[in-house]
Amino acid sequence: MSRIVLGVGGGVAAYKSALLLRALTEAGHDVRVVPTESALRFVGAATFEALSGNPVTTDVWHDVPEVAHVRIGQTAELVVVNPATADLLARAAAGRADDLLTATLLTAHCPVVFVPAMHTEMWLHPATQDNVATLRRRGSIVLPPAVGRLTGPDSGPGRLPEPADVAALAQVVLAAGADALRADLAGRRVVISAGGTREPLDPVRYLGNRSSGKQGWALARVAAARGADVTLVAANVDLPAPFGVRVVPVGTAEELRAAMLEEAGSGGGAAADVVVMAAAVADFRPATVAATKLKKDSASEPDAVPLVRNPDVLAELVTKRTPGQVVVGFAAETGDADGDVLAHARAKLARKGCNLLVVNDVSGGGVFGRPDNAAVVLAADGTATDVPHGSKDAVAAAVWRAITPRLA
Ligand SMILES: Cc1cc2nc3c(=O)[nH]c(=O)nc-3n(C[C@H](O)[C@H](O)[C@H](O)COP(=O)(O)O)c2cc1C
Repeated sequence: MSRIVLGVGGGVAAYKSALLLRALTEAGHDVRVVPTESALRFVGAATFEALSGNPVTTDVWHDVPEVAHVRIGQTAELVVVNPATADLLARAAAGRADDLLTATLLTAHCPVVFVPAMHTEMWLHPATQDNVATLRRRGSIVLPPAVGRLTGPDSGPGRLPEPADVAALAQVVLAAGADALRADLAGRRVVISAGGTREPLDPVRYLGNRSSGKQGWALARVAAARGADVTLVAANVDLPAPFGVRVVPVGTAEELRAAMLEEAGSGGGAAADVVVMAAAVADFRPATVAATKLKKDSASEPDAVPLVRNPDVLAELVTKRTPGQVVVGFAAETGDADGDVLAHARAKLARKGCNLLVVNDVSGGGVFGRPDNAAVVLAADGTATDVPHGSKDAVAAAVWRAITPRLA
C-alpha cells in the first residue's frame, strides 16, 4: 500500500479522475485527493471524499494546525495530477503555491506524474510546451496526451488517457521509480506484436494458443508513455487500445508476418527503431483449410490433421533488420530433459540472432492471461538481467530499460 496524492485540475476530463481514484484504491493504495477550486466546478468534493475515505480541501486555510500544505506533499509516495490543465502546468512550472495542490507539488519529494488534457491549440502552444519542458527538466513525468475526441466535436492531441492506462503507469512509477517513464523515446517508432495467432481448420475451428496480449499491451503503454510513436500488431486480442497507440488487427501467422514486415520498414515504409515480437505465433498450421465445416462422422475416428510449418517471423525480421534497428524476441519456455529454461532460451537467442530475448518460464501455466509476470532478459552480448515478479507493466518497464541504451 502506498500513499498517493491525486491532484485534479479544472478541466472537463476531471470526471475521469473519479475512475482513476477507484482503480488506485482498489489496488490497495491510500489516496488523498487534492482538487483545485476549478476542478470542484466539474466534480463535487463529496464524490472524492466518499471514494477515497479522506477529506478534500482546495486551499491552505484548512487543517492549519496540521500544516496540510506542507504535510500532504512531504508524506506522499507518488503524486498524480489528472487531468493537468494548461493553467495548472503553468502554475506548477512557475513554482506558484496559490492553492493546496500547487503548494503540495512544491513540498513533494516523491515522483510526480502530470497527465495533461486540453484542446490541441492549448497543448501545442509554445507557452504550454515550454512549461512541459521545464517540468520534465526538473524531474517530473509529463505524459504525452492521447490523440482523439476532445470536449466538443473536434479531435486531436490533448485527450486525457483512460483511467486504466494511468493507473497501470502509476503502479510502474511506484514499483520502478520516475526513470521508468522518462520521455526519452520521443521521435522513435516502435512496433510491437501481441496476442496469439489462430490457424483455421475450417470456417468454424482453429488451432490457437493461450496468449492474452497483456504483456504486449503493457510494452506498448510504457513506450507510449515515454513518448514513442507505437504500433501494436495485435493477433486476436480483446483489450481496449492503450492510449496513443495504433492497433493493426491480424488473425493468422501469415497475416502477422506481413503486418510486422510492413510496419518494421522492410515493406518500404518508415523504418521502426525498435521491433518487439511479443505475440505467440503458431509454429505450424493445418496443411489445408476445409471450405466447409468438418462434419462429425459417428461411424469412424476423425482423420489426423496434417500440419505444415509457419514462417519464422522473428528470424525474418532479424534478417531484414534496418540499420540500427533493435529487434527483441520473447520466448515462453519450459525446462525438459534436454535442458533448463535458460539453456533453451540461450540456444534460441543464438539461433534467431535478435538483440534481446525476454524469457518467460511458463512451466505450470503461470503466465498466460494473468496480470503479473517475471522474466529474464538475455542480450546478444551475453548479459542476463533478472526481472523480478511484478505486474506486466513493471516487466514492460524493465524490458524498455534494457532496450533504450541499445538505441543508436
Ligand atoms: C467547460 C470547460 C472545460 C474546460 N476544459 C479544460 C481542459 O480540458 N483543459 C484545460 O487546460 N482547461 C480547461 N478549461 C479551462 C480551465 O477551467 C481554466 O483554465 C481554469 O483556470 C483551470 O484551473 P486549474 O488551474 O485549477 O486547473 C475548461 C473550462 C471550461 C469552462
